[in-house]
Amino acid sequence: MSLKFSFAKKPSAKNDIAVVAFYRDKMKGAGQELDSACGGFIKHAVSGNKKFSGKLGETLLLSLPKGSEFPRVMCLGLGDPKNLGLLEAETAGGKLFTALNGTGAQKVCILGESDKTFKKCAPEEITAHLALGMKLRSYDFTKYKSKKDKASETLSTVEVIADAKAAKIFTVQEKIAAGVFTARDLVNEPPNILTPVYFADYLSKTLKPLGVEIDILDEKKMQKLGMGALLAVAQGSDNPPRLVVMRWKGSAKNAKEAPLALVGKGVTFDTGGISIKPGAGMEEMKMDMGGAAAVAGTMQAIAARKSSAHVVGIVGLVENMPSGKAYRPADILTSLSGKTIEVLNTDAEGRLVLADALTYVQRTYKPKAIVDLATLTGAMMVALGHEYCGTFVNDNRLWRQMESASTATGEKLWRMPLDEVWRKDMESPTADLQNLGKSGRYAGACTAAGFLEHFIENDTPWAHMDIAGTAWRKSDQPTVPKFGTGFGVRVLDRMISDCYE
Ligand code: BES
Ligand code: MN
Ligand code: ZN
Repeated sequence: MSLKFSFAKKPSAKNDIAVVAFYRDKMKGAGQELDSACGGFIKHAVSGNKKFSGKLGETLLLSLPKGSEFPRVMCLGLGDPKNLGLLEAETAGGKLFTALNGTGAQKVCILGESDKTFKKCAPEEITAHLALGMKLRSYDFTKYKSKKDKASETLSTVEVIADAKAAKIFTVQEKIAAGVFTARDLVNEPPNILTPVYFADYLSKTLKPLGVEIDILDEKKMQKLGMGALLAVAQGSDNPPRLVVMRWKGSAKNAKEAPLALVGKGVTFDTGGISIKPGAGMEEMKMDMGGAAAVAGTMQAIAARKSSAHVVGIVGLVENMPSGKAYRPADILTSLSGKTIEVLNTDAEGRLVLADALTYVQRTYKPKAIVDLATLTGAMMVALGHEYCGTFVNDNRLWRQMESASTATGEKLWRMPLDEVWRKDMESPTADLQNLGKSGRYAGACTAAGFLEHFIENDTPWAHMDIAGTAWRKSDQPTVPKFGTGFGVRVLDRMISDCYE
């Protein structure tokens, strides 16, 4: 069930709980007024409670005396107003959602901030991003549970008492959140349902109504074009591959200029192929289309908020399976670029899919910059875990754009090195390239990036985001629920709005 938000000047219908903010031990504005109306009850109850000191994200539920405007209040700690920025508000919102969701309340209101004493941002921004944090945390994936939670006991509506400016900010942010949810849904969907064909149809269905132009290339078309690298990965599976192009032209002026290209790895399931993976944990490989999911979610976000930017998204959708038809180690493939690739390990399949997608997007659209996203290497996860996304960039200006979008959205990027040595490492004695580095497991994320670099033409500004660790996680977080995170949508959406509109 999706959490609904409305904005109002005054609390309307009967709310089960009102949320009031605490800045350590102090209250402000609407919260302070409510406290005065109940004779200082809230402050008194809080001051006697050792577990609540008003630190960021702390919560405390209180029942109000008979005759009060609301049956209960949820005190929410926002810490020191001097340190309170948008990301802090989002984190607090996430924790607030979790606390409220456990109370059995269905309708709640948030007494938003109007006080102008925040250093880092305006009060309406704080309120809107608090709501955004709740929204992002409210995501769940329960479509395969035949028994649902009782609707009467789950939080369903949030009424935000705030200035119209807060509603305006939230309306845009909610569209971006919907893009994040799309990316999470796609990652969470099981691989028997989310085949390449299903994925492609899903993109048509969700993005066309928003005005995104969609081209779907099937196997025949890809064979004609000569996508020997992508097709080799797909050939072991009974589920045929697809390549999907999503075009958002933006303003008439930008539509005439070169687009930004987003390229996603969409391996709907990665068994490793003939170089098969061990059984333990293999189920996690349903997330190996996380790059494609992030591209899809970003396209949805920019289309829904009617961005003026010109962006082309492209995703290579394949399943990597072992079978009598599967590609094998020692095979030599001819990629769309014309470069030949010796296969040394069929589990290094993502780079093969990306190679053809990168060539296709460059030759067809001559993009002014390219960002690819891929759950590409276990090595990236070993290096940076679930927290940071290793980002390889051949252009300092593009990196600065990404870095500032990262700081603004809290999707953490860490710049990784590209080097001639790793490019060389991917050259084969028998073919032009090989799909495995000669230094074995060492610097695995860097050699993978070195391989991709061979497919970048004319020094086009290019960034490769290895989201192997950030696309998913097994434990809950304040703004991210279990498994699919939707990582990439927010940082890319932000970079597009800051730099490509
Ligand atoms: N999809 C995997 C990478 C991966 C591993 C993502 C763990 C998320 C979590 C990729 O296709 C892969 O198998 N990479 C190999 C490359 C190796 C054979 C050079 C790897 O990382 O082991
Ligand atoms: Mn693999
Ligand atoms: Zn893979």
